Amino acid sequence: MRFSFATALIGVAALISTVSADFYNRLNVNDTVFVLIDHQTGLLNLVGDYQPDAFLNNVMGLAETAKYFNIPMIFATVLDKDPNGALLPSLKKLFPDAFSYQSPWDVPEFVKAIKDTGKKQLVIAGVVTDVCVAFTSLFAKEAGYEAFAVIDSSGTFNEAVRDDSWLRMQAGGVQLMNWFSVACKLGRDRRHDITGMAVLFANRLPSYSHFMDSFNAAQAALEGAK
Ligand SMILES: *[C@@H]1O[C@H](CO)[C@@H](O)[C@H](O)[C@H]1NC(C)=O
Repeated sequence: MRFSFATALIGVAALISTVSADFYNRLNVNDTVFVLIDHQTGLLNLVGDYQPDAFLNNVMGLAETAKYFNIPMIFATVLDKDPNGALLPSLKKLFPDAFSYQSPWDVPEFVKAIKDTGKKQLVIAGVVTDVCVAFTSLFAKEAGYEAFAVIDSSGTFNEAVRDDSWLRMQAGGVQLMNWFSVACKLGRDRRHDITGMAVLFANRLPSYSHFMDSFNAAQAALEGAK
């Protein structure tokens, strides 16, 4: 009786430590690489769980976050010259020199490219969530990386498929985040660069830009009243 109780306790402790180890790993600008998979002009038409304009905005918000924090970016596109289409032109423009690899994880060059960055935290987004994002995140976890799937910069056919993907990833210890929370986690103490972060957010979040504008207007009015 006592033995099985102790065994049960050890089991519970082991479970808690595994869960908590996965539960909260902070993103660190120095440990992170971004992996954007198959954001291609053809494939984007499959995205049915976000409106096209909102989705593009989320993808670009994430890409601009990488740019802002100077984080390495790796693109994975299945094939440039097939119906899946070209890498989204606005991503290509933002990262003209980023490497692009064909289909992730089964391709040794892709795995090596990730390894060569020397980073251990992978921020992953892509189309579609249930294939590219879920498979890559779970593979990454298995290979010993920390995986952060960016849910609003990843899209798929519909909500049911999306929810299933989220559950699978979560069960595998992948952390689910949105692009804004990735930016906030990387930024940590905003006091280091209030203006830079505000511009990053205002560019992609109209409501953020409205309250920055109203704040600035109020400040100007106060100055004028002095
Ligand atoms: C990242 O590295 C720089 C340079 O070594 C260091 O100053 C900074 O504190 C590091 N940032 C974090 C969040 O660890």
